[in-house]
Amino acid sequence: MKISVVGSINMDMTVKAERIPLKGETLKGEDLKYIPGGKGANQAVAMAKLGADVEMFGCVGDDGAGKELLKNLEDMGVKTGNIRTVEGVPTGIALITVGENDNTIIVVAGANDCVDKAYVDSIKDELLQSEVVVLQHEIPQETNEYVIRLCHENGVKVVLNPGPARPVKQEIVELVTYLTPNEHEAKIIFGDEIQTEELLKRYPEKLLITQGSKGVSMCLAGGEVLLVPARKAAVVDTTGAGDTLNGAFTVQIAKGESVREALRFGNVAASLSTEKFGAQGGMPTFEEVMAELEKC
Ligand code: RIB
Ligand code: NA
Repeated sequence: MKISVVGSINMDMTVKAERIPLKGETLKGEDLKYIPGGKGANQAVAMAKLGADVEMFGCVGDDGAGKELLKNLEDMGVKTGNIRTVEGVPTGIALITVGENDNTIIVVAGANDCVDKAYVDSIKDELLQSEVVVLQHEIPQETNEYVIRLCHENGVKVVLNPGPARPVKQEIVELVTYLTPNEHEAKIIFGDEIQTEELLKRYPEKLLITQGSKGVSMCLAGGEVLLVPARKAAVVDTTGAGDTLNGAFTVQIAKGESVREALRFGNVAASLSTEKFGAQGGMPTFEEVMAELEKC
């Protein structure tokens, strides 16, 4: 059963600091690292590490970072044969500050903006062979909408992780199978008047809201709102925790596990990923998640 990601591939430039800087403030940092990232690629790697058959679709630039990122995806077991290398455009970059419990990120899209409708047309056949297609918000919105309609017409499930925050049309919300915002992203999509619980009840078994250290919640088909509390972790770096959750949740859903089980699994996978540095560092294997779940 194949899972596909259509999304971003970034080189993360990360520095560690005691905390994230305040507005206008300059802080001393340490440990500059260039490591693979991008929400799309991170979610693909999370799923491959869990043993899924994953193909990544997207674009990199014709530069050193692009080559390195392709190699990393291959080493992690992700299929890369349809990733396009675009000449004269830089590979996507993320500038990340890792504080003690949080981070800040600025993304420069570069080649990720070349993931357009024409590219989707060129990979359409491979894409539609997927059980699930996973999307985020680091490629153009109209490309996402195009993929979502295509998948819907062809009966392919879609997981839309709407990060970084930007609005999503109501009709698109209706067409995706799962929508997985954090609380901030949920406010951008649905407005901030509506309470989380009420919102979840509007979209049973579709809307999954991540709530940081509180955990993750969803309304089940019967109307019960489930909050899976976050597992306590020895946090090193929270970057990519959301990506791990999305990947792990999707892998379990693709296998036909219940939403409840997929949530528990994704929640534990995400917390394990925070115990190592880097977005992709610490992403667990299937056995590692199962071993940890047994302790809960
Ligand atoms: O979700 C974490 C990711 O967001 C980082 O890897 C960075 O590339 C940004 O896209
Ligand atoms: Na990590």
